[in-house]
Amino acid sequence: MDLNRRNFTLASLTALSALALNPVQAAGPPVNRRIVLAARPVGIPTKDDFKLETLPVPVPQDGQVLLQTRFLSLDPYMRGRMNAGKSYADRVELGDVMVGGTVSQVTRSNNPAFEKGDLVTAYAGWQDYALSDGSDLTKLDPRIVPPSYALGVLGMPGLTAYVGLLDIGQPKPGDTVVLAAATGAVGSVVGQIAKLKGCRVVGIAGAKEKCAYAVDVLGYDACVSHYDADLVTQLAMACPDGVDVYFENVGGSSWEAVMPLLNNFARVPICGLISQYNLTELPSGPDRMSLLQGLILQRSLKMQGFIVSNYRDRIPAFIGDMSNWLCLLYTSDAADE
Ligand SMILES: NC(=O)c1ccc[n+]([C@@H]2O[C@H](COP(=O)([O-])OP(=O)(O)OC[C@H]3O[C@@H](n4cnc5c(N)ncnc54)[C@H](OP(=O)(O)O)[C@@H]3O)[C@@H](O)[C@H]2O)c1
Repeated sequence: MDLNRRNFTLASLTALSALALNPVQAAGPPVNRRIVLAARPVGIPTKDDFKLETLPVPVPQDGQVLLQTRFLSLDPYMRGRMNAGKSYADRVELGDVMVGGTVSQVTRSNNPAFEKGDLVTAYAGWQDYALSDGSDLTKLDPRIVPPSYALGVLGMPGLTAYVGLLDIGQPKPGDTVVLAAATGAVGSVVGQIAKLKGCRVVGIAGAKEKCAYAVDVLGYDACVSHYDADLVTQLAMACPDGVDVYFENVGGSSWEAVMPLLNNFARVPICGLISQYNLTELPSGPDRMSLLQGLILQRSLKMQGFIVSNYRDRIPAFIGDMSNWLCLLYTSDAADE
């Protein structure tokens, strides 16, 4: 099993390492190593919130296929699935395998729709093997090379970038687009599409190396670090004409820095708020809701949250456009290459 993600932001990766889920199985008969949720994390997840179990490889029944995980995507949404509360998707129950999108290979098939060797996208989660009746599988187009793109630029993060930027952000040539988590799976696609649309693109990222990567490799016009004590000034200097689109992935200090720079009629697709996912209570401070509402009113701002699973009807257009753009623009630093 390869772990395919550029930025292992979740403490889940630390947990994975700590549980010694090595990508390569040790010699001997295959077993199914799986990681289950052992406890609901409070704040940042720790390895004690997970448990590594080793079980026999499951046997497919009539109509089922046996899948072996080739790539697993670790995504920020997984943190929400660990919580007890109600969200837009089902939580993981204690003792259940952690969920996750995978590229899997059919290793045994009792289902006429699939042959041994087929690569599919699945939702097999944090384990080596899984059974499926085929209803949740999509055969991978062999032209998708490497296959891990199906979890990235041609998968859920790519579609998220596509609908968030184009449908909600509606960038126009000459606009200034600012994006947070600018080198992540979603952000790196947002920024590159925005460049393709003729925009000035300014990223917000963490490490200086990521900022350099955003400019030198992804082709952004500028990138500032949210670790920089001077973030507000740096961002203002990088956006001399203000901000027309802010693609929100993070919240917190990034949003605080962008807010004063928003132009009249700016659009703010709210995709994620990753700086808040491990919070156990609301940040303290004065209630500034009326300030925000005033800004939205006076500058005619459009802010819209969205969940990618509500945009399945956009998949054909996304695949068409992205396939064309892919050879033009996409740069992958995926860990599997
Ligand atoms: N609405 C939807 O349907 C949908 C779908 C997919 C993803 N999302 C959301 O989109 C966002 C990006 O997802 P992704 O898959 O691109 O994530 P990713 O590749 O895992 O990258 C996440 C990046 O966020 C930054 N980050 C993490 N914690 C932070 C903090 N406390 N403050 C500031 N920055 C922080 C880090 O970048 P730096 O090191 O550069 O700070 C990290 O590398 C997430 O909020 C995710 O939940 C939403």
